[in-house]
Amino acid sequence: MSPINVHRFDVVIVGAGGAGLMAALQTSAYANVAVLSKLYPTRSHTGAAQGGIGAALGNLEEDHWEWHMFDTVKGGDYLSDQDAVEIMCRDAVETVYELEHNGLPFNRTPDGKIDQRRFGGHTRNFGEAPVRRACYAADRTGHMILQTLYQQCIKYNVNFFNEFHVLDLILSEGRAAGVVARNIQSGELHVFHSKVVIFATGGYGRAFKVTSNALAGTGDGVAICYRRGIPLEDVEFYQFHPTGMYRLGFLITEGARGEGAILLNGQGERFMERYAPTLKDLAPRDIISRCMYNEIRAGRGIDGQDYLYLDLRHLGKDVIETKLPDITEFVRVYFGIDPVTTPVPVQPTAHYAMGGIPTDLDGRVVIDENNTPLPGLYAAGECACVSVHGANRLGTNSLVDIIVFGRRAGKDALRFIRANDLPPLPADAADRARAEIDHFLSGESAEPPATVREDLRETMMDLASVIRNADTLTQCRSRLEQLRERFKRVRPNDRGQTFNTDLLETLEIGYLIDISEALVVSALARTESRGAHYREDFPERNDSEWLKHTLAYNQDGKIELRYKPVRITRFEPKARSY
Ligand code: FUM
Repeated sequence: MSPINVHRFDVVIVGAGGAGLMAALQTSAYANVAVLSKLYPTRSHTGAAQGGIGAALGNLEEDHWEWHMFDTVKGGDYLSDQDAVEIMCRDAVETVYELEHNGLPFNRTPDGKIDQRRFGGHTRNFGEAPVRRACYAADRTGHMILQTLYQQCIKYNVNFFNEFHVLDLILSEGRAAGVVARNIQSGELHVFHSKVVIFATGGYGRAFKVTSNALAGTGDGVAICYRRGIPLEDVEFYQFHPTGMYRLGFLITEGARGEGAILLNGQGERFMERYAPTLKDLAPRDIISRCMYNEIRAGRGIDGQDYLYLDLRHLGKDVIETKLPDITEFVRVYFGIDPVTTPVPVQPTAHYAMGGIPTDLDGRVVIDENNTPLPGLYAAGECACVSVHGANRLGTNSLVDIIVFGRRAGKDALRFIRANDLPPLPADAADRARAEIDHFLSGESAEPPATVREDLRETMMDLASVIRNADTLTQCRSRLEQLRERFKRVRPNDRGQTFNTDLLETLEIGYLIDISEALVVSALARTESRGAHYREDFPERNDSEWLKHTLAYNQDGKIELRYKPVRITRFEPKARSY
């Protein structure tokens, strides 16, 4: 191998959001750990999670982790692996206290306990009525988690490689052996040779035109694993959050509805009362987003257009400005209106991937129907599918997931590095990444990468979002094939080495195309409706045929689908009503 920068670590963590930082905190006191991030860590997308982290503390009213577990399983339309959900909901309670002890500034009740608010799908006593379960720091909960964990990482001297873009996973003798990354500042390739690799790279909401996801949410880790033969689990399940700012997609937290805000249609009707008489505006996201599409399709959008209103006015200025300060600011700045006096135009926005890199309960990446682990490879957070969220995630559970399973992945990684030596580094470790870079930095460009990206995002939004059918998905698949062909002929305008973000964005488009294809092929095959995957040609859930997880494999460019069973421990599937 030509003289490339080679680093050796016990553990390499890719991604510096909540899951990555949590894994780093578990390992760094006992091992030589590197965290690689294509961003500065505190800009990670965890910071965009607004309204809360769910835990049955019972600070304001009775609550139990079993109720949290039931809500999560039912919210996920019974596709969740229930052993994983049990771990998450039990551990959520100590997790929140651990964050508090690490300095997270939660909102407080008058007697000094952590305050809790309502959130979609969270109920007391197995579905009776909404419960206050979301622990929150105004509408900046994710931001505060990120800052708290980052400060802890600095305290424990974690090695950060900021603005390093990971391009490839190194495999050696059937094990993970490190990653190849590009230093964005200099353009140099670096090999990180390690015993363990933990992917914590987040989701891929940028595949859709209207999204709450940050620019960096391009599924890098998911696509890198997929290209290396690891299947993608349940990627057909993609969540749309009901309240994105119209056209912009920025999140208006569900915490607003937790505080009492309501959705209105063009007739001024609180339409969720018709669809979900018990939980109303606090029904799970899959249901509300679908109802919003129904209202809009029925011509009951605002002025007959493709948006609805989120009305906060009755909450009053004090609650709006103190409990929801960030979204108040966003609405004032980006829409030029004041939520204190004016309803806010909203539409469903691409928000969260329930599917991803399959893992077991300890974050170990598994590669088949028998859950065979790939030694040394771990994943946690949104890029992973453990699978706690099933077919539809409940709000606040992403933050629980990153902390609980980031920690478990870190702990198991320690066990692994103690029992194993460094695998050999293949001589050609960096070749594939170098070839990809060389391809994009040479030759003529048939069109700018951005036109392919925008066509991709429009295609996915129009044909594979909240409501799907065989026609839209088939059209989507063939447009993706065309986009893949066009993508082969694009080149970034900037051919330089230093801070070549044009190249970075081009590579990201490739990741999004790969994942979108797997999503659409998995969605076309699943001839039922479940959670966020709604097929208007198959509107019912079909447990006898489809109570199973999809595994999509990339077989030399062709997608092969296999399936594995769902683990059901406590709650047998029932019809969902809210
Ligand atoms: O609405 C929100 O604050 C989003 C939270 C989440 O996705 O968990």
